[in-house]
Amino acid sequence: MVEKRTAIYTEEMLDSMKKVEAAREANTAFEPRRMTAEEKETLLATYHPDYKQDEFSVLSVGANKGEKVPHELAALLQAKSRIAAGDVDLTSPDYDVDVLIIGGGGAGASAAIEADNNGAKTMIVTKLRIGDANTMMAEGGIQAADKPNDSPAIHYLDAFGGGHFAAKPSLLYRLVNEAPDAIKWLNDLGVEFDKTEDGTMVTTHGGGTSRKRMHAAKDYSGAEIMRTLRDEVLNRGIPVIDFTAAVELILDDKGQAAGAVLLNMETKELLVARAKTVILATGGAGRLHYQGFPTSNHYGATADGLVLGYRVGAKLMYADTLQYHPTGAAFPEQIFGALVTEKVRSLGAKLVNKNGEVFMHPLETRDVSAASIIRECTARGNGIETSDGIGLWLDTPMIEKKGGEGTIEKRIPAMMRMFGKYGIDIRKEPILVYPTLHYQNGGLDITPDCMTGVENLYAAGEVVGGIHGRNRLMGNSLLDIIVFGRNAGKSASEKSKSVTTGTLTLAHIEKFAAECAAAGIEDDAVSPKLLPDYTRKVND
Ligand code: FUM
Repeated sequence: MVEKRTAIYTEEMLDSMKKVEAAREANTAFEPRRMTAEEKETLLATYHPDYKQDEFSVLSVGANKGEKVPHELAALLQAKSRIAAGDVDLTSPDYDVDVLIIGGGGAGASAAIEADNNGAKTMIVTKLRIGDANTMMAEGGIQAADKPNDSPAIHYLDAFGGGHFAAKPSLLYRLVNEAPDAIKWLNDLGVEFDKTEDGTMVTTHGGGTSRKRMHAAKDYSGAEIMRTLRDEVLNRGIPVIDFTAAVELILDDKGQAAGAVLLNMETKELLVARAKTVILATGGAGRLHYQGFPTSNHYGATADGLVLGYRVGAKLMYADTLQYHPTGAAFPEQIFGALVTEKVRSLGAKLVNKNGEVFMHPLETRDVSAASIIRECTARGNGIETSDGIGLWLDTPMIEKKGGEGTIEKRIPAMMRMFGKYGIDIRKEPILVYPTLHYQNGGLDITPDCMTGVENLYAAGEVVGGIHGRNRLMGNSLLDIIVFGRNAGKSASEKSKSVTTGTLTLAHIEKFAAECAAAGIEDDAVSPKLLPDYTRKVND
């Protein structure tokens, strides 16, 4: 079997693959033990990227002054605005709405639907198109404790432990308690979840779950959810302003959020949107490529919401903690960093080193799994070299040994297609993986009603920090965009009924710039970043 595929693999890969195949035959039932708490602590402190002190800067200005964040994020949080206050006329807004939603992913769309239900004049602005978001990229599923052997309390304990007991209890409580209703809501809207013939939802484990509560639409759960939400938004006629980025929030003279300055990404025209309440739903930051990692994230994931919120005084929570998904594709180079869903491991694939040894339990929590893979490849020298770096085997043929022929095509068809394009049949041969930057655990600090520290400024989705603590379990992100997206839409639309907006102002731009200057920050960088820059530099 291996000989036929010499064209794409190196000699080292082919030799190692033979060892994996031999070990698979001998070892199929072998299940390594889980690590103890002490072993995990030592592993994380030594190998997890969050613990590399020289990769972080201490903020000199703003609500989190004195706290550390990744260098790349610090540069954006302390950068100059893209505009000056005088660039726009705030007295004649181009748009005037009750609820302005910035971001067209799952959280923004969920918020828009609920705000619309509440009768608010609602508008979405998005720098790309509705659905161009990390939601669309999510694969494995969405958690909810809705089976008889499970409960929100057990879900809470799993997530709280997995997040190192650091989650904000009021947010996590809301997440797990509203999860069953989130699934019902999505199902009623038309999401095609995997079900048995009698209509029962099929659920599986994820890393760190003590019950099978992962609901999925094969391995394109996020795309299916986003498809449904987008259709709902468009069918309702909620205005969506595409290719239009928010570059600065607008406050009023009472210090309340009151709109945003928008940039048409094509014409570069600046526009003003006045709003009684604003919801930030701008998503994550994978395209900042912290510590040089590749990413599973969408092209627009550049931490814009953190920058917009921080500049008007909103506080961040846990902005120093990121999630490196243990299994990004490490080979072939065309899909370097792309997500290989955790569902592959929950269906039975194990992580195997170059000698054919299963070196860890496949469903440790993500931070532990990522650190374990990094240790295996670096300190232990058991990785396999690739054109872009290094990787380890994820032994996908084990899935069919465990679940029977046809399981891969039925349960993870997108994975099969992604690798199949490059001549790799994951039913027959293992794949090479390495951690990829996947999720920002930290973000804007919010109340359970989704309000940030700035009056009338709400946030939902990946831009929020604290829901999951310092590590998130699989499937709790698709869940949080729905639970908190819906809540943000309800709260912001309700609040908009009693808001009287004062005189609009952009005075915070100059104030923040003066603070930066006083702190000796002289960089000419501007933010938000909006899009990553992949142009080759002269010496590349
Ligand atoms: O592995 C995955 O399918 C990713 C899921 C998640 O981040 O929740």
